[in-house]
Amino acid sequence: MSTVAKRQVKFHDYAPTGSDFLAEVVEGLSRVPKKISPKFFYDQRGSELFDEICLQPEYYPTRTEISILQHNARQIAALIGAESVLVELGSGASEKVRVLFDALSPASYMGVDISKEFLLLSTRRLAQDYPELEVHAVCADFSQQLELPVQAQRGQVVAFFPGSSIGNFEPTSALQFLRQVAACVGKGGKLLIGVDLKKDSVILNRAYNDAAGVTAAFNLNLLQRIQVELAAELELDAFHHQAFYNPEQSRVEMHLVSERRQTIMLDDEVFELTARESIHTESSYKYSLDEFARLAGKAGFAVEQVWTDPAKMFSVQLLGVH
Ligand SMILES: C[S@@+](CC[C@H](N)C(=O)[O-])C[C@H]1O[C@@H](n2cnc3c(N)ncnc32)[C@H](O)[C@@H]1O
Repeated sequence: MSTVAKRQVKFHDYAPTGSDFLAEVVEGLSRVPKKISPKFFYDQRGSELFDEICLQPEYYPTRTEISILQHNARQIAALIGAESVLVELGSGASEKVRVLFDALSPASYMGVDISKEFLLLSTRRLAQDYPELEVHAVCADFSQQLELPVQAQRGQVVAFFPGSSIGNFEPTSALQFLRQVAACVGKGGKLLIGVDLKKDSVILNRAYNDAAGVTAAFNLNLLQRIQVELAAELELDAFHHQAFYNPEQSRVEMHLVSERRQTIMLDDEVFELTARESIHTESSYKYSLDEFARLAGKAGFAVEQVWTDPAKMFSVQLLGVH
C-alpha cells in the first residue's frame, strides 16, 4: 500500500446518538442523589478543556504517567513485542501513545473515543506524523460495547488505557469493564493501564481544584452541553464546581452544586434542586497496588509488571490474560 493511502485514517462510527444522551441525563436527574456519567463531559470543548487540565501545575497524573512511560518505554516494548494491534481506549489527544511508538513498532493503531471531532483530529495528526502506521479511529462508548472493527485486527491485540480512566468506573463496573477488555484482547493479549494510586488528600484536593479554574470550567461544560444539545432550560450561573477526596470510598468526587433552589426543565420534565443540592458528575477512584492486582485478577488478568514514579504517585501496569 502506498504511504499516501496509509496516511488516511479509517473511521468507524458507533457514536452514541443525541437520544442516548437525553435518556441518560433524564435518568440521572431522576435519581436520588442526582448523578450524570462523566463520559458526557467530552464534546470538542470538553476534550480541549481536559487537555488544558493536563497542563495545570496541580494536576500531577499526566506528567507523572508520561515520565513513567518515557523512562520505561524500552522495557514495555520488549514485554509487549512488536507488530501488535495497539488499541487505545479513551485515546483523547493520542499524545501518551507517541512515547511508545518508536520502541514498540506496532502493526496498527486504533484510537477509541466518544468525542468524535476530537478523535478525528488527533488520529489524523498521528497518521501524518507516522505515515507508515495504519491508523483507525473508532468513535464509540466503551462502557456500552467493546467490539472492535474486524478488519483492523490482524495481529495480537494490545489494549492501552492511560489516564487512570479506570478510576472513573464504580468498582463493580470496573470489574465488568476489565472482563470485557480481557475478552477483547483474547488469549495471550495484554493491557497496559495507567492507575492512579492512593496518596495524601491535600495533593488530591489540589489536583481537582486547580487555581486557574480549568477543572471547574470542564465540569460546568457538562451543563452547557445539556443546555445547548438537549435544549434544557437551566441557569448555568446558579451552579458551581466542587471536588473533594472522599476517604471512605477512596475516590475524588466531582459535583455541580446548585447555589439556590431552582428547576431544570428537560424533555417536558421538571427536575427540582434544593439550595446546595448537587449533581454528582465524576468519581475518580484511587487504588493501592494490592487492591488493583485483586481487581485485575478477578477480571482474568495477571499483573506482569508495575512501573511507578519515585514518589509512588501513579502506576503504569502491564496485565496479561491468564
Ligand atoms: C481522562 S481523559 C484521558 C485522555 C487520554 N487518554 C489521557 O490519558 O490523557 C478520558 C478520555 O476517554 C474518553 N472517554 C470517556 N468516557 C468514554 C466512553 N464511555 N467511551 C469512549 N471514550 C470515553 C474521553 O473522551 C477522553 O478522551
